Amino acid sequence: MIGRSLNRVDGPLKVTGGAPYAYEQWDGGQPLYGFIVGATIGKGRITRIDPSPAERAPGVRLVLTHLNTPVQGTRDESIPFEYWRAYPTLSRPEVRHYGEAVALVVATTFEQARAAAALVDVEYAAEAGHFDFAAHQDQEYAPKHLIVGLRTDTAVGDFGDGFDAAAIKVDQRYTTPYEFSQALEPHACLAVPHGEDLTVYAATQIVDAAHASIAATLRLTGERIHIVTPYVGGGFGSKLRIHAEAILAVFAARALRQPVKVALTRQQIFHLVGLRPTSSQRVRLGAGPDGRLVALGHEVTMHTNRHIEYGEPTATSTRSLYAAPHRFTRTRLVPLDLPQGEDVRAPGDAPGLLAVESAMDELADAVGMDPVELRIRNEPERDPERGVPFSDRQLVDCLREGARRFGWERRPDKPATLRDGPWLVGYGVSAAIRGHFQGAATARVRLDADGTAVVQSDMTDIGTGTYTILSQVAAEALGLPVERVRVELGRSELPVSVGSGGSWGAGNSSTAVYRACESLREKLLITATGDARSSLHGLDPAGAVFSDGSVHIGGRSDALSEIIARTQPEGVEAEGSTVWMMEEPNYAAYSIHTYGAHFVEVGVDAYTAEIRLRRMLGVFSAGRVLNAKTARSQLIGGMIWGVGAALEEEGVVDTRTGAFVTRDLANYLVPVHADIPEIDAVVLDGFDDKANVLGAKGLGELGICGAGAAVANAVFNATGIRVRDFPITLDKLL
Ligand code: MOS
Repeated sequence: MIGRSLNRVDGPLKVTGGAPYAYEQWDGGQPLYGFIVGATIGKGRITRIDPSPAERAPGVRLVLTHLNTPVQGTRDESIPFEYWRAYPTLSRPEVRHYGEAVALVVATTFEQARAAAALVDVEYAAEAGHFDFAAHQDQEYAPKHLIVGLRTDTAVGDFGDGFDAAAIKVDQRYTTPYEFSQALEPHACLAVPHGEDLTVYAATQIVDAAHASIAATLRLTGERIHIVTPYVGGGFGSKLRIHAEAILAVFAARALRQPVKVALTRQQIFHLVGLRPTSSQRVRLGAGPDGRLVALGHEVTMHTNRHIEYGEPTATSTRSLYAAPHRFTRTRLVPLDLPQGEDVRAPGDAPGLLAVESAMDELADAVGMDPVELRIRNEPERDPERGVPFSDRQLVDCLREGARRFGWERRPDKPATLRDGPWLVGYGVSAAIRGHFQGAATARVRLDADGTAVVQSDMTDIGTGTYTILSQVAAEALGLPVERVRVELGRSELPVSVGSGGSWGAGNSSTAVYRACESLREKLLITATGDARSSLHGLDPAGAVFSDGSVHIGGRSDALSEIIARTQPEGVEAEGSTVWMMEEPNYAAYSIHTYGAHFVEVGVDAYTAEIRLRRMLGVFSAGRVLNAKTARSQLIGGMIWGVGAALEEEGVVDTRTGAFVTRDLANYLVPVHADIPEIDAVVLDGFDDKANVLGAKGLGELGICGAGAAVANAVFNATGIRVRDFPITLDKLL
């Protein structure tokens, strides 16, 4: 059952509209609707705010401003992840970035709330803010660490001497723009007061974090707050923490003692939710004439909000990617008065590999070597920075298998030499690498007397297929048909997980479920072999096999449902869990990553420079795959996002005001179906026994890693033009 292309178990509910998302939830009573008013300056303070014109508008029930919100908790920086910290909202007159919430208008209908929001009268004292990344790079500073506690700077050997002595050098700077996660489901919340308690239907990736953040902001004990989020319409990092919509819905619901719904409009998401920092990256590669790297340097500078620090781990996978005796990485932040940096799909690895894998292509060109061979030549035997062995590294296999399947030998050695009518055709390759993280997740599995297994965790399914893979894992571990497994997720009363993020959801939660099943099996075996009424009585449980809803030992068997009905009619349950990676010995002893290789063919119109993707193949290695279909969907989605990063996505800020001018999907471009031909993703068979008992590593973010660089390298091969300023738009080729 594990690994099969099982269709999503929640698919029928979703396509029939039976799976409610946060804004569609109904919990008794007629909900009111809130609409957020955003600041129209980028920095400064509110000098006067008059809600009365809005309060007089039809249907308006409440206007919240910083003058009438309750006292709020503050961000506790001793909590290691931002997602669990308080999220004070409307807590002060200062404006710290354009579009920040300055009021919430609550009315009987959404339209009334939105119309009245325009009537809130706000006067500001604007100050000159820093909105221009390029202009303020001299103010860079070293943060204490990057997200997940990763180090900002690392070094091995002597980069300076190694690079100086290298026969062939690449020294280039690459820039990546502000990027946004735009999930299909907007950020939305329905808050419902039940006496002193509050049920919060929130669009979130991590139930426990939403719970902690809301409790800390409201200064309430956690027992009063119940998070419910059975279905989430995509997150991509943007729902790891809750934002203004949830905090303000909660305030309003408590003040009015009525259910309140607040959703962000698509335009509001661009300012009220964080974004991927813009980056400037210098990559230096020093190699011998044979292409072997002797020195590798990756320096990253990126923006951060001045008040909420965020350091994306952009140079961290560079630390494990290629062999080079002399190497260093370095990260600096430039404080600006723009929305905070937040995790956007494959934080760090996605923009970092755009730079490093472009630079590797430049090195291949400088050495005169095939770029696949160059990467294979620089394959390290151990983690080149930490010196520890790799747990399971199949990068070379991905490169070779991809080259074979793609027909890489047809790539023209010389750029701009292959034509197909008006199209200049080029091939590009890139490696993919992504860290494997583990968090503390718990799951409970109960077997009922009717032979049904119920899996419970506060884990989320953000569209990735969690319900499905957990059903598969429990079915296999208990020897039940998958229809006999029911998975319950997304409620704060259930055993705590770390949710969906960092590609760790599948690995964490399936391991926790598997361990719960192991412990459940043990309980059942002790019960059955110790029960005189069981045909297994007195047998040695060591050789027991669970299949077809029964336990088999030797030639005898007993049905699970009968074991339970006879001995524990209320059902048998067990819990399983994982621990934080810091407590997991394999994390110190091994370098654990997932890998891949992207192959791209593009056409560039010789007259207009229009760039079209023609073919794309990714070959990946991520240990054992839990469901071939959901894995492939994740990988293809990531690859398409990589195409967008290479060719389309670009958040453009008005550097006079701090407002993003690309604040809808007409101006902030992402690939559409017409941009993407048939593409394919293949996953190599694998089992990483150092990762977890299932041998499975997450792959949600692996698909985007390196994908954009393969497109960029194909554009170079097609045209002979190297664009280092992403995205590669046609004006940069003319
Ligand atoms: Mo992911 S950007 O860590 O949800």
